[in-house]
Amino acid sequence: MIDLRSDTVTRPSEAMREAARDAEVGDDVYGEDPTVNELEARVADVLGTEDALLVPSGTMGNQVAARTHTDRGQEVVCERESHVYKWELGGLAQHSGLQVRPVAGDDRGVLAPEQVREAHVAADDHRPGTGLLTLENTHNSKGGTALAPETVDAAVDAAHERGVPVHLDGARLFNAAVAQDVPASRFVEPVDSAMACLSKGLGAPVGSVLAGDAAFVERAHRVRKLMGGGMRQAGIVAAPGLLALEGRDRLAEDHERAPPASGKASGVSRSATTACGSVPTGTSTTGTSGRRWRPSSGRSPDSSGRASARSSQATVPTVSLVHAFLESRGGPAEEKEDGEEKQDEHAHDPDEDEVDTPVEHAPG
Ligand SMILES: Cc1ncc(COP(=O)(O)O)c(C=O)c1O
Repeated sequence: MIDLRSDTVTRPSEAMREAARDAEVGDDVYGEDPTVNELEARVADVLGTEDALLVPSGTMGNQVAARTHTDRGQEVVCERESHVYKWELGGLAQHSGLQVRPVAGDDRGVLAPEQVREAHVAADDHRPGTGLLTLENTHNSKGGTALAPETVDAAVDAAHERGVPVHLDGARLFNAAVAQDVPASRFVEPVDSAMACLSKGLGAPVGSVLAGDAAFVERAHRVRKLMGGGMRQAGIVAAPGLLALEGRDRLAEDHERAPPASGKASGVSRSATTACGSVPTGTSTTGTSGRRWRPSSGRSPDSSGRASARSSQATVPTVSLVHAFLESRGGPAEEKEDGEEKQDEHAHDPDEDEVDTPVEHAPG
């Protein structure tokens, strides 16, 4: 089966499974896992930063970055549809005591420099001050748009002029880089930290990386521990991550195979929109069963904005071709056994069909 819902439903290839099995390991909380150290050094090399840190997920990477850059009570300027604001359970407030100043970007999720200047709050006796600007590339909720680095440079400069650091949520940074034939390091060079996921499209089963200068990563290392992200023999995770990283240029094949999205997305690379699996309109994670959170009524949390699977199909011709991509690499997705009705957290719940209000973009 080729599963087109998202690039997060990938399964590791045989080579990744073997690499995990054979990985040399140590205790990474002590910094003694050689495979993690190798991955972090390789990421720093690829992204052009002094150092990097393996984290379990993209969400943790963003949250660790925010906590590392800021003081409690400060404001974070985020694009209004950004993942860190919209889809991370209010983590900026919950983990770091931050308040978000959401700003509506353009249809690709770009913030203009004047918007950054307007949103900035200087610290004084009454106001906490702006502690961080976050950017997202590719921009998930704007259809997975891959933004040219020059497009966001001005916003970064506007923040820096005011002494505000900038974090790049690059969950699909390598899609943005490959789609535009620009080195990933170019996107990271102007910002103060960047997160990239190895588990989306690149096929690693687990893991994201957070990159920045040595002082940032040293502080982030402590915050990762605080948030419960210190992992022990994590080489088992890092080894497939290394393979994921080395295979990043093959995202071009994924982009090639993905037909244009529903017509809403714009930006530098429309092909990246679907190929990066950012789940454009309506791939209804709300129409699911399994472990996903539900209120006691059994309805999904955003019952005002759900789509039926029917309306999802109508608005989303395709999402991600990652399984086909992985199969072509010799890492096929596992087949469902004949007649077996497997329910997983993405499975469609027919009860949801009654509701046909358009859903917002799915988080994954
Ligand atoms: C833009 C963006 N940032 C962060 C994340 C969070 O990544 P994770 O699911 O690994 O926590 C996602 C998830 O898809 C995302 O699309």
